[in-house]
Amino acid sequence: MTELRVRKVEIRGVPLIGYMRRLVDRGKLFPARIWEGKKVGVTYETNMGKTIGRIDDFRDIELTPSLHPGAFKQTFVDGPVLERAERILRETPALRGRMVPIEEKPMDWEGLDFSIRPSHAMFYAKIKKGEQWPRADLVPYEEIGIMPSAGVLNYGQGLFEGMKAYWSAAGNIVLFRPEDNAKRAQEGAKRLSLTPVPVEYFIDAVKRVVMANKHLIPPMGKGSLYIRPLLLGTGQILGVQSAPEHTFIVYVSPVGPYFKGGLTPIKLLVSRKYHRAVPGGTGNVKAIGNYAAGIKPSEEARSNGYAEVMYLDAIENIYIEEVGAANFFCVKDRIIYTPKLRGTILPGITRDSVITIARALGYKVFEKRISIDFAMQADEAFCTGTAAVVSPISSIVMEERIAIFNKGKVGPISTRLYQDLTAIQEQRADDPFGWVREIG
Ligand code: PLP
Ligand code: COI
Repeated sequence: MTELRVRKVEIRGVPLIGYMRRLVDRGKLFPARIWEGKKVGVTYETNMGKTIGRIDDFRDIELTPSLHPGAFKQTFVDGPVLERAERILRETPALRGRMVPIEEKPMDWEGLDFSIRPSHAMFYAKIKKGEQWPRADLVPYEEIGIMPSAGVLNYGQGLFEGMKAYWSAAGNIVLFRPEDNAKRAQEGAKRLSLTPVPVEYFIDAVKRVVMANKHLIPPMGKGSLYIRPLLLGTGQILGVQSAPEHTFIVYVSPVGPYFKGGLTPIKLLVSRKYHRAVPGGTGNVKAIGNYAAGIKPSEEARSNGYAEVMYLDAIENIYIEEVGAANFFCVKDRIIYTPKLRGTILPGITRDSVITIARALGYKVFEKRISIDFAMQADEAFCTGTAAVVSPISSIVMEERIAIFNKGKVGPISTRLYQDLTAIQEQRADDPFGWVREIG
């Protein structure tokens, strides 16, 4: 028999009436309006159906109406409220008998691409600038209230992270080097005057969101659950200053490959016109504004048949920096080269993993300035990232010049690094560097 699991509890009415009463007491509402047209109750949504419960069972639950201004309900998607709901449903046959089966379409895991799909739950915590991050509940993945004068909307005070959870060959739900994402987000927070999120807190939020959306993790080989932590200056501010309120969110979406075709080599366009970052800017952190500036260059490249733009340094316009949202590597005479981190390049976690694996395999890896001329003479090229994994590059075009690598096919060293990295990530091989975290 299927074990009953409660996925969602929606509480409407009574505790909010307490909240509404306070408004009434302050003369802000007429008592009659509290009840008009409002159902009072609890709705349980489970893996077996839906039913209406008794509000009395939840009288002591503290609600946070301010989270959803104007909504007279609160929805719980994890924590003690769900545990209590499960107990009540198990112990009350009359309630179970009233359950209306939910029609659930099985997920179609075939042909997943890198696009957003609605999920069940997200993490949401909000503080006054500089305060400690509080214990917070998961909430449904839905709109968040934000004022037009929020710092992030006006001045782009925000950063994000990109991570993945997936089923491994050993049958575990795993994360890859999540501490490094958390630490990078802390560096970004300092650069953008946001309140850093402690590493443990960050990882705990990620784990809870992943586990609450476990049913959205694609089966092995079909994709992964992309995790998007966001740290935003959401308070109102008119001058260019740090917003007085900061919000940390973690949401997820099941995804397939970032570049269409997975390990199919991609064509890149080198831009001499656009730059991604300047020394002293924010290129080395995942500031949201960095990505806004890349949209038009990427669109232009895509409309001309390229997968992405490759950026050069902003001073001399010669040295390779990055590929859209991934780090660049090339191979010449079996030596691996990647641009040195000098403040304008994002320190990719996949980049670091590939360097570590390559060195352990006995390859020389040089982190140095790489001119576009040098890269165009390379034997192989590829780019790395959480979304991109190891994506081989078939050709690079700059103005009238074209470089084709390994006759447009995936090179042997790129293939080896892809295989070794994904074998560690998917627990098909040992994890000598201690990178994989089992969370379920
Ligand atoms: N470079 C940029 C600009 C990125 O946005 C990303 C993606 O996160 C990367 C590189 C790759 O970083 P990571 O390997 O940590 O995902
Ligand atoms: C990632 O690789 O996780 C990224 O952040 C890329 C993203 C901009 C799509």
